[in-house]
Amino acid sequence: MANLLALAAAASAPAAGDSSISISARNEHLDILIQSMLPGNDLVGVNAAKGLFDRVMGTAASQLLFDYRADDLFERKAIVVIAKVEERVVGTLHVHMDDKQQLWVRGAVVDPVYSGRQIASAMGAMGVVHAGCSGLRFTRATLAIRILADGTMNEPSRVSFARLGFVEGELGEARIDGSFRNRHLFASCERDVFGPFTRYGRMHAGPDVFARSVRFLEAWRQLRHPDALATIR
Ligand SMILES: CC(C)(COP(=O)(O)OP(=O)(O)OC[C@H]1O[C@@H](n2cnc3c(N)ncnc32)[C@H](O)[C@@H]1OP(=O)(O)O)[C@@H](O)C(=O)NCCC(=O)NCCS
Repeated sequence: MANLLALAAAASAPAAGDSSISISARNEHLDILIQSMLPGNDLVGVNAAKGLFDRVMGTAASQLLFDYRADDLFERKAIVVIAKVEERVVGTLHVHMDDKQQLWVRGAVVDPVYSGRQIASAMGAMGVVHAGCSGLRFTRATLAIRILADGTMNEPSRVSFARLGFVEGELGEARIDGSFRNRHLFASCERDVFGPFTRYGRMHAGPDVFARSVRFLEAWRQLRHPDALATIR
């Protein structure tokens, strides 16, 4: 596992294009390790992460927008981020580029037992840092956050990424078509005359999200107690 600051410094050099690197950041006080890697580098971890995602998605607390399959991670050339406490996976998300130089952040989930430790923010920061360090040059980073039937946004998610400098952008809606990506939303989606649909809001950040993410991770890994987390902004 590479040193975060050394990699961040190297990332300002010409693109290396090597996303096979693995990066980690540990918070000793909270005993949380955040790792990022290509999916093929840790198949056990990727499967455990998908297991966590599926468990959370099946609960009432889930406000997830889109499902994914483990093999999508390969097709998207995704960088997978996993948070662990000892060997237990307590959080995951993944990032990938599209053909418009946009870095997408997807599938953020944290075990509810470990919420309130800014793990989602730290994982998002790690995905951004890994992408930058591996030479991916993105013009912006984007994620889609679910808007609930009462019109409010998935607040924990919005807060988690606002900390990294993401700002709210355009609104949209997706028709529920029964595909693996959205069939899990049948139970909680809205309906109009054309059938079931779900709404989302996008959040975006510019390339400066890289420097902000490095700073966030450096501060996050020093934290002693969740009560102190409010100081990271
Ligand atoms: C969204 C999610 C990943 C956030 O992970 P997390 O690491 O637990 O996030 P944190 O607890 O550090 O931060 C969440 C923030 O939202 C706040 N929050 C939590 N629940 C809230 C609620 N119901 N209403 C308003 N704010 C809420 C927390 O207080 C915290 O803000 P604060 O630090 O300023 O107090 C996690 O809640 C989750 O897994 N949700 C279910 C899956 C999901 O909806 N994923 C979203 C994919 S886009």
